Amino acid sequence: PLFHFGLLCVIGGHVVGVLIPKTWTAAIGINDHMYHEGALYMGAVAGIIFIVGFLLLMKRRFTVPAMKVNTSGLDKWLYLFLTLAIFSGMAGTLLNASGFFDYRVSIGPWFRSLISFMPDPSLMEGVPFMFKFHMLAWMVVAIIFPFSRLVHCLSVPLNYLARPFIVYRKRDRV
Ligand code: HEM
Repeated sequence: PLFHFGLLCVIGGHVVGVLIPKTWTAAIGINDHMYHEGALYMGAVAGIIFIVGFLLLMKRRFTVPAMKVNTSGLDKWLYLFLTLAIFSGMAGTLLNASGFFDYRVSIGPWFRSLISFMPDPSLMEGVPFMFKFHMLAWMVVAIIFPFSRLVHCLSVPLNYLARPFIVYRKRDRV
């Protein structure tokens, strides 16, 4: 639960910071200073919750024997790059505590250009190394996650909420 709560907070932060254009937040009266203060403090808290949750899950995965044997080589690569993505994101936020770099005029528009199939790499010129590294790390995660156990993200088992506790076979065959 801690990990998923942290994940939701971090996703929320990314939606506001990267997907929503600066002009929209400005239109509802949020200036650069307000935005940055909010992103820094809420981002740091979200990031810490996320990291603690992630470390607890990693401890469980590599200490519970049944889970350890069910962890493939590719899963381990995924965890490595996920760790790099999480820590480089956090490092980017902390290194940018003074707000010298505005990713909402570079990384944000670049990411939107990417997902609208009109990539404009020139927007990434001059982006600090830590953020470029963060981009590389999440891209590797995006490439390998469909082949790893993390693919469960795509199949939230909502029917678990309504089904009987133990199902050994289809009910109509009983
Ligand atoms: C596997 C996917 C990703 C993970 C695990 C991840 C994780 C993180 C974490 C933990 C932070 C620290 C701040 C926070 O807690 O919100 C962060 C910051 C950041 N991430 Fe990501 N991220 C991912 C994908 C992306 C993508 C797709 C983009 C945009 C193209 C992006 C752009 C940023 C930016 C700009 C920051 C700095 C936010 C700030 O300082 O206000 N990240 N990321």
